[in-house]
Amino acid sequence: MAKRRGFETEAIHLSKKFGERGALNVPIYQNSTFAQVEPGKWEDYTYTRTNNPTEEALRNALSVLEGGAYGIITSSGLAAINALCEMFDSGDHIVSTADVYGGTYRLFTEFVAKRGIEFSFVESKDITQVSGAVRENTKLIYVETPSNPLLEITDIPAIARIAKSQGALLAVDNTMATPYFQKPLELGADIVIHSLSKYISGHTNVIGGALIVKDDSYRDQIKFIRKATGANPAPFDCYLTLLGLKTLALRMRRHEENALRVAKYLVEQPRVVSVRYPGLSEHPQHELAKKQMSGFGGIVSFELDGDEKVAKKFIQDTELFTISISFGSVASFISYPAQMSHKDMPREERIKRGFSDSLVRLSLGIEDVNDLISALDGAFSKMR
Ligand SMILES: Cc1ncc(COP(=O)(O)O)c(C=O)c1O
Repeated sequence: MAKRRGFETEAIHLSKKFGERGALNVPIYQNSTFAQVEPGKWEDYTYTRTNNPTEEALRNALSVLEGGAYGIITSSGLAAINALCEMFDSGDHIVSTADVYGGTYRLFTEFVAKRGIEFSFVESKDITQVSGAVRENTKLIYVETPSNPLLEITDIPAIARIAKSQGALLAVDNTMATPYFQKPLELGADIVIHSLSKYISGHTNVIGGALIVKDDSYRDQIKFIRKATGANPAPFDCYLTLLGLKTLALRMRRHEENALRVAKYLVEQPRVVSVRYPGLSEHPQHELAKKQMSGFGGIVSFELDGDEKVAKKFIQDTELFTISISFGSVASFISYPAQMSHKDMPREERIKRGFSDSLVRLSLGIEDVNDLISALDGAFSKMR
């Protein structure tokens, strides 16, 4: 058997074979349609909504990096989650992590539920809640781990066993960890979801998504869903994402290094009530994170001693960090999730889950960490 190459090597060299005339970057096939040799005869490429060579290079590369059989690239992460839901019918039941990205919650509750698909939201970090929620008609368990913004960890192999015993599929949103730090398919999941708009593209210049399946038997179904619902990405965005992918490993290591330094700094701050980062030994699921992840990522959330006003002022006072709803960029971001990424999640729901009004989320970029800490120091000094 050929020796498996390292992640960094694959991420750089995987797309090479798709280049023409020695092109080291996959060309941008900016075509809506491709010539057919005969009426009714279908070649590999006919129309970009169905297939495009730049998109093909990206989906193949991501499928290899995730250890999947096949994947589709979509116009956004939410389009990938919506495509996943299209695999199920009215009357089916989905059990989902409660602490999911706010847009995922909105998609599930305001759109997919209207198609007659039922949802149960549970704290999936507690596997008894997941097994308790599973029913006869449960077809999917949907997990986000680490979760956004609470950084809770769900035990992927344990949930995979529950899904298997019920004959349901397990999908994991791997956006936060990326395949560099976590391989859900190797841990027993059936499907991986990505927002490519975050770490994988990495430079805040792309909106994209991916749905990758472990079992090749879902290939035709997901291909068909993408084609029939028009969820395809732009070839240029696929090109940019492929460039981002080449430096993913390097960036992730630096994001993590900076996040750990900042998390440890925050723990020491008198106005900080709690710090959520799975890389801290005091994180309640640190051991589980160590078991199923090879790194802890670049997001740190923390609660300030105060209310919404205090949190918003702190955010406003933090220089260098960009106030942004997103994460996963080379630049550091700061956000107030309750009214940004999770604004469509009802307050009672949030509070029930320990997502308080003073929660601040940081996405640590790859800058000099001393400058990031100085910026936070500046904001803390204004609190006193
Ligand atoms: C964990 C997670 N999954 C999915 C999405 C949706 O991705 P997109 O914004 O690309 O539609 C997001 C967006 O913030 C996210 O944070």
